[in-house]
Amino acid sequence: MNRQMVMVGFLQAQNCTNLPSSWRHPESRTDFLSPDYYQEIARVLEAGKFHLAFFDDRLAMPDRYGGDHAHTVEYGIRCVKMDPIAVMMTMAAVTERLGLGSTYSTTYYEPFHVARMFATIDLMTKGRAAWNVVTSVNDGEALNMGRSEAIEHDLRYDRADEFMEIVLGHWDAWDDDALIIDKTSGRFADPAKVRRLDHAGKFYRSRGPFTVPRSAQGHPVIIQAGQSGRGLRFAGRWAEVIFSSAANMRRGREIYTALHAEAERAGRDPNLISICSSITTVAAATKAEAEDKMAALEKLPLEIDALSLLAEGVNFDFAAKDLDEPLSDADLASFSGMLTIRDSVIQASGKRNPTTRDFIRLNNRGKVEGAIVGGPKEVADKLEELFVGRACDGFVVGATHVPGAYADFVTHVVPELQRRGLYHRDYTGPTLRENLGLPHPTIGDWK
Ligand SMILES: Cc1cc2nc3c(=O)[nH]c(=O)nc-3n(C[C@H](O)[C@H](O)[C@H](O)COP(=O)(O)O)c2cc1C
Repeated sequence: MNRQMVMVGFLQAQNCTNLPSSWRHPESRTDFLSPDYYQEIARVLEAGKFHLAFFDDRLAMPDRYGGDHAHTVEYGIRCVKMDPIAVMMTMAAVTERLGLGSTYSTTYYEPFHVARMFATIDLMTKGRAAWNVVTSVNDGEALNMGRSEAIEHDLRYDRADEFMEIVLGHWDAWDDDALIIDKTSGRFADPAKVRRLDHAGKFYRSRGPFTVPRSAQGHPVIIQAGQSGRGLRFAGRWAEVIFSSAANMRRGREIYTALHAEAERAGRDPNLISICSSITTVAAATKAEAEDKMAALEKLPLEIDALSLLAEGVNFDFAAKDLDEPLSDADLASFSGMLTIRDSVIQASGKRNPTTRDFIRLNNRGKVEGAIVGGPKEVADKLEELFVGRACDGFVVGATHVPGAYADFVTHVVPELQRRGLYHRDYTGPTLRENLGLPHPTIGDWK
């Protein structure tokens, strides 16, 4: 079969989509505290043969801007954050093929806990689970989780490397055929096929033996979204699905090539990795109709949405500065979150010391900027260009509102991509690995 696009829904267990103002959209459902809301999204994504529904996560509401949460709560800027795993499991109950991925932090949870949680989900979903590995970025998360500040960027990834060795080590504890369950002989499992990990490293200790047998797909699929040099190295070493925030062909190809090089350096086959670009689409039956929808969407965001999310993203309080005051070298050096935000604004502004207004203008946090707007042809053309040009292998599709934006994508874009032979017409098999074209993992294959 031809190379096919991988499609991922970019979901939140909260009051809004990636677009913080989405809750004000006239067609947004407001019952985001009930399972019905998520189950409807799941049904829409599965009808569109999405490979995966993926939940992002943050362990704090944005309150870095002005050091206060009042604006966050007042304007509904991602102020609700439920545990994504509990929410995701309500979607598992109403789907059969849709992969289910969630973000879980390597900074604030123990590796044994994460390994057990996702291995269990993988069994309960019959091999449809994925874990998005993140190294949490901001001080709000640190303060909620008993620390005083976020850990320094590269150190977070050093810890995360060791975290992965433990998680994958535990997932390898049981051979695929370790279970016997023979009531006649009384043998439950073969002790020669269940091993202890005995990990004692620089940052972590974990003994084992692990308490969850292997799933239908061996173990959960690993997702990662590092964009910095250190992040790309981490993703190239561990991830099977990689999210890229590249907004255009040039940057997409750069990241694609860098990730393939990192995967090869780590001794892996880059062709087994799906690199998915983060996009937002505004689709309709016709281009004119989509443009009308986009015009309405552009009225939703407020400046405070951008300020709040920028402050959270780079861990810097923009409220301490006048909008047009250049940030000093020391200010910029103190950024500690998503450093790609800082670097891309410096590059796009052509200034060594951009202002807060430059950040608002040149970064799309809080806005629907960069959306692919159009009828079936226009949206499919753009996706095809990025896919065929090897800027990516697929897409993480963010919604301007739910469930309507996904329903539009599935109604208008999916059939056109299928007609062009770029996107599967049905799932290959019951497990996520099968649908992603990934082989069943063998014990120790990640070493
Ligand atoms: C599509 C996408 C989804 C992401 N989801 C999360 C998330 O849920 N939680 C989180 O803390 N970071 C998330 N990130 C941030 C990445 O994990 C990463 O920190 C960021 O891209 C910056 O890269 P760096 O860590 O290499 O600096 C996401 C990034 C992308 C592109």
